[in-house]
Amino acid sequence: MRAKITVVGAGNVGATVAQEVARRDYADVVLVDIIEGLPQGKALDINEAGPVLGYEPRATGTNGYGETAGSDVVVVTSGKPRSPGMSRDDLVTTNQSIVASVTRQALAESPDAILVVVTNPLDAMCHVAKDASGLPKERVFGMAGILDTARFRTFIAWATGASARDVQAMVLGGHGDQMVPVVSSTTVGGVPLKRLLSGETIVELVERTRKGGGEVVNLLGTSAWYAPGAAVAEMVDAIVLDQKRLLPCTAYLEGEYGIAGLYMGVPVKLGARGVEEIVELELTSDEQAELEKSAAAVREVVGVLAG
Ligand code: NAI
Repeated sequence: MRAKITVVGAGNVGATVAQEVARRDYADVVLVDIIEGLPQGKALDINEAGPVLGYEPRATGTNGYGETAGSDVVVVTSGKPRSPGMSRDDLVTTNQSIVASVTRQALAESPDAILVVVTNPLDAMCHVAKDASGLPKERVFGMAGILDTARFRTFIAWATGASARDVQAMVLGGHGDQMVPVVSSTTVGGVPLKRLLSGETIVELVERTRKGGGEVVNLLGTSAWYAPGAAVAEMVDAIVLDQKRLLPCTAYLEGEYGIAGLYMGVPVKLGARGVEEIVELELTSDEQAELEKSAAAVREVVGVLAG
């Protein structure tokens, strides 16, 4: 039987996720949005690309949840994106009620689903989805680290003249400007980054990564979708195909990295059961201190959530 993936929010990110997943051809995709015609039109368009790109047309668009029943994975992208001058945290109140409501409605139809949260502010929205769903932490987590790491890998590839595929890196922490690119474990084809670039250049790349989301917002007037959509699809692959990938995801920490009761970006083993393990990297003392600073910033936003 084909897997079934629901994507809530048929805007820029949601539609890109739906298209990326449809192209893999292992799952049916249901797109949900409150705007009439939007998910239906985008699903139709995705179906009509099938004959050209070589996948079976099984995308459905809807304004309700009946068609989502029995989904294996639910991806939540509904909510407002940033505009120039806004931080992700400015979205907290608007998006809290949207994420809580869509989580309840989706889970009512698919009680066995794994929930992947994308809506910003990401770390806080994971707390909202966990509370609204009542699911165990293994089955509620967020996408941010793969995107932030992809940005870091891109900048490193350009600076070193290497293929981005050969850049191994990991960006941890909250999905905000305090995120922590882990330079100590970054390599290009196995060679430590510190042997390839000057300390000054590395600092520039780290800073550009931290502000990578804002760089796109300033150019487009709204946030990115191609790289975020591809990053979510990589997580869906790992879950549906039980790949046991080691990927940075926003997971609920209970003491790992010395942080408890908080969603943060950390390396996890991702498979059919969701977050199957949280992997603890050996960090330098500076990196650990940065991670704690990032945790404090996430706690501040979580503290703003309405009870
Ligand atoms: P968008 O505005 O293009 O799409 C959002 C969609 O959500 C709209 O079509 C809207 O009608 C829909 N929506 C609103 N309320 C809804 C509800 N109650 N039920 C169903 N649908 C509803 O925004 P975009 O660019 O797709 O971004 C979506 C979210 O993802 C934003 O919060 C953005 O900040 C976040 N994001 C997160 C990233 C990450 O790394 N975690 C990366 C990029 C974006």
